[in-house]
Amino acid sequence: MTEPRNVVLKVRGLSVFYATPTGDVRATDDASFDLYEGETLGLVGESGSGKTTATSGILRMVSSPGRIVAGSVELDGVDLLALKEEDLRRQRWSKLALIPQGAMNSLNPTMKISAQIADVIRTHTGKTPPRDRILELFQMVGLPGRIHDMYPHELSGGMKQRVCIAMGIALNPRVIIADEATSALDVVVQRVVAQTMAKVRDALGVSMIMIGHDMGLMAQMVDRIAVMYSGKIVEIARVADMFARPAHPYSKILIDSVPSLTQRQALRITGGITHDPRNPPKGCIFQLRCPYAAPQCREPQPLREINPGQLAACCRAEEILAGTAQAREIADA
Ligand SMILES: Nc1ncnc2c1ncn2[C@@H]1O[C@H](COP(=O)(O)OP(=O)(O)OP(=O)(O)O)[C@@H](O)[C@H]1O
Ligand SMILES: [Mg+2]
Repeated sequence: MTEPRNVVLKVRGLSVFYATPTGDVRATDDASFDLYEGETLGLVGESGSGKTTATSGILRMVSSPGRIVAGSVELDGVDLLALKEEDLRRQRWSKLALIPQGAMNSLNPTMKISAQIADVIRTHTGKTPPRDRILELFQMVGLPGRIHDMYPHELSGGMKQRVCIAMGIALNPRVIIADEATSALDVVVQRVVAQTMAKVRDALGVSMIMIGHDMGLMAQMVDRIAVMYSGKIVEIARVADMFARPAHPYSKILIDSVPSLTQRQALRITGGITHDPRNPPKGCIFQLRCPYAAPQCREPQPLREINPGQLAACCRAEEILAGTAQAREIADA
């Protein structure tokens, strides 16, 4: 599923900042990307790079001290950021569903699984779904009908995560955003849950944004990958291009740090983001850690198309692709 088709979700210049006593944390800064019909886009980046914040911006669910500072989020041509609250509420879940980070741990322990799914449907449609609809949802995510009357504590982690996927698809959305849907699970269960999501995506023809740390799992699951660093999207490319020839130095470092595509590993390349997120460097966001940093990196680096379908925010991307860029000591930057 690599051919660009209809754009379902069009994010442009999305900035979400958190106010702190010492200034704004630029958690998501001028993010732009398209999500095509039926595709899965992976969003990767180290902890704190702004993945969850971007998601809450897209859904317009940013809570204080955060605020959406700029941008537009068009879903099928309708700008969610410009909608009235009640119109927005109608679009959420029914068109744009979120499986939040840590969702399986926030299931209500005192409510039966079936009642929690019914609740989601009732809240958004005003109607209680028939038992058959709940069983159908269970079946779609590979859960046995016998869990209908069970409580969350009676389920394994993988099963609870599939309940959350069932909730996500309950209203037949156009887009599902899964924020670290597999991260809390062990490796074998991760794979099963990831396969469940792929099955659901293909059966329903939904588009997905999968957020995660695990480049190996991403490589197997998604069509394209967007790499975030300190609030900025620094590269977007098809998986094969991203792994074979990353154009941004940060993507290159991430990919070089994956021992093999079948090995699971969280992203952790160095000690983390080194600059103060309230005072990012002018120009390229990665310049303080970049082995290829040059004086021109102090100028703004917008995402630009380096190859068809491959966008990178780096003035030296061509040299990096050609292998002619000279790496330097990071202390020189
Ligand atoms: N309520 C808040 N107040 C201030 N800063 C915040 C708040 N929530 C998040 N941040 C900051 O915003 C930045 C982005 O955080 P976010 O949770 O979006 O990252 P993430 O990529 O989802 O990380 P993780 O992989 O750990 O889930 C971080 O620097 C974080 O410290
Ligand atoms: Mg997060």
